[in-house]
Amino acid sequence: MVELQVKASRKNSFEEIKRLVASKYPIVWIESWEEERVETTLKRVAEKAFTSPIQFSVWSETSSDQSLVDCLKGFVQKPEQGILLVKDFNWQLGPEQLLKRSLRDVFHSTKGSFKTLFLVSPYPRIPEDMTKEIFSMDFALPGEEEIQGIFSGVLKSFPKVKNQLNPEQSGRLLKAALGLTGDEAKLVFQQMLVGRQELNEEALGIVFHEKARIVKREGLLEFVPTKFKLEDIGGLENLKEWLQDRSHFFGEDAKKAGLQIPKGVLMTGVSGCGKSLCTQAISAAWGLPLYRLDINRVYGGAIGQPEECFRRAIQQIESIAPAILWLEEIEKSVAGYEQGDKGVTARIFSSFLTWMQEHESPVVVAATANEIDRLPAELLRKGRFDEIFFVDLPTEKERAQIFEVHLKRRSLDLSQFNLVELAKGTQGFNGAEIEQAVVSGLVYAFKDGKRALKQEDIYKAIGRSVPLSTTMAETIKEIKRWADTRAVKASKAG
Ligand SMILES: Nc1ncnc2c1ncn2[C@@H]1O[C@H](COP(=O)(O)OP(=O)(O)OP(=O)(O)O)[C@@H](O)[C@H]1O
Ligand SMILES: [Mg+2]
Repeated sequence: MVELQVKASRKNSFEEIKRLVASKYPIVWIESWEEERVETTLKRVAEKAFTSPIQFSVWSETSSDQSLVDCLKGFVQKPEQGILLVKDFNWQLGPEQLLKRSLRDVFHSTKGSFKTLFLVSPYPRIPEDMTKEIFSMDFALPGEEEIQGIFSGVLKSFPKVKNQLNPEQSGRLLKAALGLTGDEAKLVFQQMLVGRQELNEEALGIVFHEKARIVKREGLLEFVPTKFKLEDIGGLENLKEWLQDRSHFFGEDAKKAGLQIPKGVLMTGVSGCGKSLCTQAISAAWGLPLYRLDINRVYGGAIGQPEECFRRAIQQIESIAPAILWLEEIEKSVAGYEQGDKGVTARIFSSFLTWMQEHESPVVVAATANEIDRLPAELLRKGRFDEIFFVDLPTEKERAQIFEVHLKRRSLDLSQFNLVELAKGTQGFNGAEIEQAVVSGLVYAFKDGKRALKQEDIYKAIGRSVPLSTTMAETIKEIKRWADTRAVKASKAG
């Protein structure tokens, strides 16, 4: 069989469990859908992790004659070392007070002894008054090494299939399955191999396809089709230049030359001036797929605890990489303090920072922020984002360019318009308002006998709108003051 390239798995649950047992943690909560992987890992720890094997037992409602409370009593009384796994743990498994009492008994009497009780459940429900006794552990999705094991196992069960993948293709296959649970990976591999005589490049497509389907089903990441290119942005020359300069960073040549793929770019500034537009243009300029993180689904606990959802989203984007991860209004989402539980938000923010700093996958974060003064300093420190751009209200020259973009987009004859005059008449307008002036102008022209758009129609629309910069003058001043010393201007001076 072709040697598979394996990188060390990012986080090893076996080692983590071993460490917890060795440090004599009495009760550990594992939130996971992967009961079977949890059980296998615990069993391996019990059998292999220490100089002599320790006892491993399992309680579940269907496999045990004893009630959970009696089982816990027995666990406390047993003199020897051991690991007990309680499956499907939830507070309805007995009268809640009695269960809490039993868990406290376990906590107090096994503290300092070599016994650990593991509770596994897909739902995180540790009551406030039990958080001191129960340690909550993340059970990482399988890393490349484990995925390789799963793949080899599945391949063995198809002895007639000839593996024709070269090392590079094998590497891609394993990467494609990252972000899936063990069971999902197994099913995807089986689907790839069934009815086949040889495993080749074409079969890989099935894994990518399945993966995309699973990512879509969970809905943590939303694929955003790229509608705009750099040419669709009026002005913002500095930002465009920066993006253009990095458009070749993802090729083999750049890799050989030692160029580093950017980790991320943060765009901040006045509303409606093109931050979201630029994010889409980055995707087109760099030829990378764009995925937006749905933060509501993360906090809504789409597939478990918010932290788990966030981690899963990160794993998914890494496995799709190279790709762009779009974080909108980062001050409210990942770095936000508005979501209900402050502890949860702080933990998500902290894992985001660590990931930004440490990850080596070709994932570029494109983040936007409106209320920049609310962004924590840690996020802005060097090494996190490659650049922080401030997107200001467009200058006169830029307004003319934005008019040009929008008139051209609607296939209008530019010679019929005086862009300089239009720009002069729209001081304080943002890009969105300029676009709106063209759109409203078209409505007036249509109403007036379905005729072609004229300069006057746009003037009429301009006259009827009050730009945001008038109503929000103070806020905009504040934003500018903040950005002056902390960000690079997206527009070129003059
Ligand atoms: N510089 C620009 N060039 C061309 N069009 C622009 C520009 N800025 C804004 N627009 C137009 O306005 C629309 C809204 O802009 P966009 O959504 O990118 O603003 P934003 O900065 O993300 O605003 P918000 O902070 O409210 O999210 C764009 O889809 C585009 O049509
Ligand atoms: Mg936006």
